[in-house]
Amino acid sequence: EWWADEKKLQTPESKAIEEAAQILRTSDIPVAFPTETVYGLGADATRSASVQGIYRAKQRPSDNPLIVHVDSIEMLNRLLNPTLQTPRSPDSTKTPHINIPEIYQPLLDRFWPGPLTIILPNPSGSELAPEVTSNLTTFGVRMPSSALARLLIHATDRPLAAPSANASTKPSPTTAQHVYHDLHDRIELILDGGPSGVGVESTVVDGLCHPPAILRPGGIGIEEIRACPGWENVIVAYNDGTLDVKEIPRAPGMKYRHYSPKARVVLFEADSHFAGVKRHVQKDLSDSAIGAHNIGIIRTRNWPQGLGLATTTDTLTSSLRPVPSAIEGLHSFPVPVQETGSPSSRTKIAYDYHLGSETGTIAHGLFAALRALDELDVDVIYVEGISDRDGDLAAAVMNRLRKAAGAEMKV
Ligand code: TXA
Ligand code: MG
Repeated sequence: EWWADEKKLQTPESKAIEEAAQILRTSDIPVAFPTETVYGLGADATRSASVQGIYRAKQRPSDNPLIVHVDSIEMLNRLLNPTLQTPRSPDSTKTPHINIPEIYQPLLDRFWPGPLTIILPNPSGSELAPEVTSNLTTFGVRMPSSALARLLIHATDRPLAAPSANASTKPSPTTAQHVYHDLHDRIELILDGGPSGVGVESTVVDGLCHPPAILRPGGIGIEEIRACPGWENVIVAYNDGTLDVKEIPRAPGMKYRHYSPKARVVLFEADSHFAGVKRHVQKDLSDSAIGAHNIGIIRTRNWPQGLGLATTTDTLTSSLRPVPSAIEGLHSFPVPVQETGSPSSRTKIAYDYHLGSETGTIAHGLFAALRALDELDVDVIYVEGISDRDGDLAAAVMNRLRKAAGAEMKV
């Protein structure tokens, strides 16, 4: 078993996990830990005071339910069957379940442990603190594939409620440094497991309704889910760019402002024309009413003539310089602009970040890019969108960007 020797190991990692588990069991201050999607802010899901600590630290509205994280099917069995005396056994992650609706079986076989959250009925006599479910009759649960996350849950011996470990409304954290930036004065411990692999949150699916629905796009692609028996007709219950915005979101958290940096975010639809994007950015820069001084551009394509914001490509290239504090691949260059209504031209700075064109790379780096540009105090971040139809993670990326931007434009 993957954790059998955990108690005997005396590595710095096992000590840190034990310390984190101790805090989770006894204190009401949440602990941040890595998962394969984003960093989570964890609390013992069975203790109200502990779960309230999450809402306090994040300043998150309490009608937004939290996802429960388990280390094993056995732990989920105990949650779903509070009166059953299920023996504690050295479990694998594939133990047969008790009382999980059949429709979920193919998903669990394929995607657990991993970035998939399923909605289950909260049983009567449930051990879950009411704050976890925001008093809904259901709860969301997942088994993370991150070994560090599962070790922590196992060491705590409790299901952990954990939203993303960012301050409410900010982009989700994909490194321990992001968590530290947002929450260092509100929490005592961050387990640092390096950058999160996936970079966007888990996919949330509801198999309790007919047809089943995807409530939040995420780490598991829609087509992968649709390929599972019983899920062929799965519907999408979030804004994928085609829904009327007035439609009521089914997953409670989806109605909140989210993933937003301080800067205003302008999102361009996939396949917007390069020339149109450039013209739009240039116009914002020269309009003193808009007041864009420093700006950031997050690109998902190679632009034929670079950014072309300066007078010639040559001056542009020669003035490219790396930003010391920033992430790899981020460049800045001065843009001389003549503001309308202002007699003197002054130099502004554009930060140009090419996220790459692979969907996986874009998902992995997106939140970090938004955060890095925020650190540089830009006024506007222009983001080049990708197509929802690129499958897998693309819809998840666009879902996050639409929330960060509030609106999308086609040029
Ligand atoms: O990847 C993830 O899932 C991350 C990492 C830390 O595991 N966690 C995460 O948790 O994103 P959180 O608490 O931010 O996600 C909560 C969202 C809610 O906003 C809602 O969309 C959905 O999960 N959710 C939770 N419980 C639900 C329920 N009973 N019914 C419908 N949706 C629910
Ligand atoms: Mg979140």
